Amino acid sequence: MGNMTSSAAASRVGSGALHIACIMDGNGRWAKRRGLPRTAGHTAGEEALATVVREAAQRDVGWLTVFGFSTENWVRPPAEVRHILGLHRKLFGRIEELNANNVRVNWIGRPFDEPGSRTPANVQKAIRQAIEDTKHNTGMVLTVAFDYGSRAEIVRAARHAAEFSPGGIAANLYDATLPPVDVLVRTSGESRISNFMLWQAAHARVYFTDCSWPDFGGRQLDEAIALARTHRA
Ligand code: IPE
Ligand code: IPE
Ligand code: MG
Repeated sequence: MGNMTSSAAASRVGSGALHIACIMDGNGRWAKRRGLPRTAGHTAGEEALATVVREAAQRDVGWLTVFGFSTENWVRPPAEVRHILGLHRKLFGRIEELNANNVRVNWIGRPFDEPGSRTPANVQKAIRQAIEDTKHNTGMVLTVAFDYGSRAEIVRAARHAAEFSPGGIAANLYDATLPPVDVLVRTSGESRISNFMLWQAAHARVYFTDCSWPDFGGRQLDEAIALARTHRA
């Protein structure tokens, strides 16, 4: 899992394709403002993600990496966690749409066979299936960070590098083929990184917006892309 072949990237049109990474925040507040339960915000957030994937695939985005669920998020109320897990199954089940957009699914997070992994079997299955069913697509790579925490990723990578494998930390991250992040996006007015892609986003531009994730769309994506383009050498 997560072993992207370089041929897919090589077949991509436009060598300047960007890597955009999104911390999808503000679902709960979006719902609260509408007098809805937090779960309704997560449902709207999953729909926004489907839109953003389609919009990004039509732009010069080669890699879209989204923070779906953090290693810290397991402490949320069980009903909310269950709802979010269900939405990930829905997201990974959008095979027809993903294939129509030539999008290849990828995942980063705590490996399922490692101590501390809490990803339920049905979510593991959905992730594996989506990767399998989209593996021949040659367009944008959609990486979902699920049960992900960047410090844990780096600690593990350092340990692996020392114990079994040369190449240092970069070669031992959950997915060593992910290119550096060009723009790190965080929605909903928070200007924090929250343990996301600390290694990969070391030199990224950051796009903080007050827009809640459920309201994020093509316009905001264009602003994030413009930020990368303006500052690129
Ligand atoms: C982001 O929205 C979704 C996840 C973290 C899973 P939040 O649920 O954090 O929404 P707010 O921050 O409470 O508004
Ligand atoms: C970050 O959002 C995690 C995801 C978007 C999945 P949180 O809402 O969990 O982050 P903090 O706790 O406010 O930093
Ligand atoms: Mg939040």
